Amino acid sequence: MLSLGNVFDYDDLHNFMRRVNERLSDAQQNPEYEMEMKLDGLAVSLKYEYGHYVQAVTRGDGQTGEDITQNAKTIRNLPLWLAEAKDIALLEVRGEVLMPKAGFERLNRLAEENGDKTFANPRNAAAGSLRQLDPAIAASRPLAFYGYSVNQGLPETIETQSAALAWIKQLGFTISAVEVVANPRAAQAYYESIIETRAELPFEIDGTVIKVNSLALQQQLGFLSREPRWATAYKFPAETVMTRLKDIEWQVGRTGQITPVGKLEPVKVGGFTVSNVTLHNFGEIQRLDVRAGDIVSVHRAGDVIPKVTRVWQDQRPDDSKPVELPSTCPVCDSPVILPEDEALARCSGGLFCPAQQQEALIHFVSRRAMDI
Ligand code: IVH
Repeated sequence: MLSLGNVFDYDDLHNFMRRVNERLSDAQQNPEYEMEMKLDGLAVSLKYEYGHYVQAVTRGDGQTGEDITQNAKTIRNLPLWLAEAKDIALLEVRGEVLMPKAGFERLNRLAEENGDKTFANPRNAAAGSLRQLDPAIAASRPLAFYGYSVNQGLPETIETQSAALAWIKQLGFTISAVEVVANPRAAQAYYESIIETRAELPFEIDGTVIKVNSLALQQQLGFLSREPRWATAYKFPAETVMTRLKDIEWQVGRTGQITPVGKLEPVKVGGFTVSNVTLHNFGEIQRLDVRAGDIVSVHRAGDVIPKVTRVWQDQRPDDSKPVELPSTCPVCDSPVILPEDEALARCSGGLFCPAQQQEALIHFVSRRAMDI
């Protein structure tokens, strides 16, 4: 599976279309484009043999995906039988698995009540749900599949991306709001109309995708390394909002590093609620001069964890106190050490510390280590 290039404004969009034109003949200039939402989930490839669902894999490292056939089967809007594709030996549909915002917030509330780890964003929650060993857990998670391309088995009579999506919709798949546009102004209008509806959408999107509509032209344009020349993502600008930083909590990592996490007065950004921000390390707290109780600007760009970009010291409560590094580990009470020339303070408890034990175990079984 491949990735997409990015554009961020109207000029970039123009340049993308100019580059497409440069590779086309005189008769092919200014082709039609098709626009879709850029869904912020997990890319998944589905295979159907003679209409029967047989396999689902994630993107993995791009070459080799993870088999999630059993878990994906539990996604409510994912069709398991395609009556109208019963004569197609192999059909491959790709798309995005999403967790709707409401379901994500419910899941995190439950996790908080049970003292479990919460997910940073709906995408991580969707990915975590599909990696469960027990499909019953995946089945209990509110996931949805949105198709965005047909990669094998498309009938030859279908000649455009928009027709391919209309076809899979007819087969029983859910697709996002698509539109065919004839020029950059119409593309910009679609992009702006999607920004308008973004907050009301039940799921996260981080932009739009623009694709050359003709499948024959797509083939002719081909790929540059791992990105298609015929499509690009037109991303939304990052969003910044203001809220109160209620508290600062300290988390203990695998090697004992003690990192501060900001607890926010929950605030909506891009239509979903943010209640935690990363503060990186004690040095960052000092650099920002941030204190519990401060009003802060929080910036959220696409899939990255939100961070504090500004502290409004002029609105600081009179009784606020500078943040102090804890002298003992919040989990095991061992002394905290801050080696000279290092930004990260550490718990000196080693594997005696339950937090370090847990993180070490998670690391041990992870994909980058024993890959269990
Ligand atoms: S088309 C050749 N369409 O964005 C790649 N991708 O940044 C064609 N994505 O890994 C991908 N919404 O998972 C396409 N409407 C959409 C999409 C979409 C989300 C994801 C996709 C891909 C990533 C690339």
